[in-house]
Amino acid sequence: MNPDWIAPSILAADFARLGEEARAVVEAGADLIHFDVMDNHYVPNLTIGPPVCESLRRYLDREGIDIGIDAHLMVDPADALIARFAEAGAAIISFHPETSADVAGALGAIRSAGCRAGLVFNPDVPLADLSDWIGQVDLVLLMSVYPGFGGQTFIDSTLPRIAEARTLIDASGANPRLEVDGGITVGNVAAVAAAGADTFVAGSTIFGSKDYRETIAAMRREIRSARNR
Ligand code: DX5
Ligand code: ZN
Repeated sequence: MNPDWIAPSILAADFARLGEEARAVVEAGADLIHFDVMDNHYVPNLTIGPPVCESLRRYLDREGIDIGIDAHLMVDPADALIARFAEAGAAIISFHPETSADVAGALGAIRSAGCRAGLVFNPDVPLADLSDWIGQVDLVLLMSVYPGFGGQTFIDSTLPRIAEARTLIDASGANPRLEVDGGITVGNVAAVAAAGADTFVAGSTIFGSKDYRETIAAMRREIRSARNR
């Protein structure tokens, strides 16, 4: 199993102070910066794109802050933006299979650009297709809310889906990360870990808290308790 990673979603950060917010969560113990890209077409919301990713990457490099940017593309079509995010310095680029006419080609393009490739599954998308792509992905991202907005409630039926994805991954012989995104709190992260996830996105739970370090530490304690069960 991969080491557990906590990925604060900067969707819930103060965008006017993006660099400082990213620095604050890294200093508080984050493992990855989750970067939500929305197009007001695939999802009914509009956020940030390649120029912001590039500025953030430059800021982090300039400040000597060693952390990867985890770009979650909620855009349709995703294909043309892949190269842009690779150039903008994303470490991981994930997209929803229904947003690409050529999923295998898009995954290959992400890896050829030197990034890690991820596929994202909405709560109502069957995981059966995952077996077709499992050898071509570095990350499987399961949505635990319908994408579009931060601060939504975790959909409990995601837990058996995490277990299903974990079984598929373990049977495949490949070892992609299994990331879960949406509605994760200190109160439910242990169940998400116990079901088989190793990468935990949290937006409002972390950025909505007073003390990022204490919140991330509390999440880690919960994850550890699930591992020791
Ligand atoms: C939802 C986004 C999530 C979101 C998570 O469309 O993909 O990454 O920012 O935010 P919280 O943790 O507040 O649900
Ligand atoms: Zn996301």
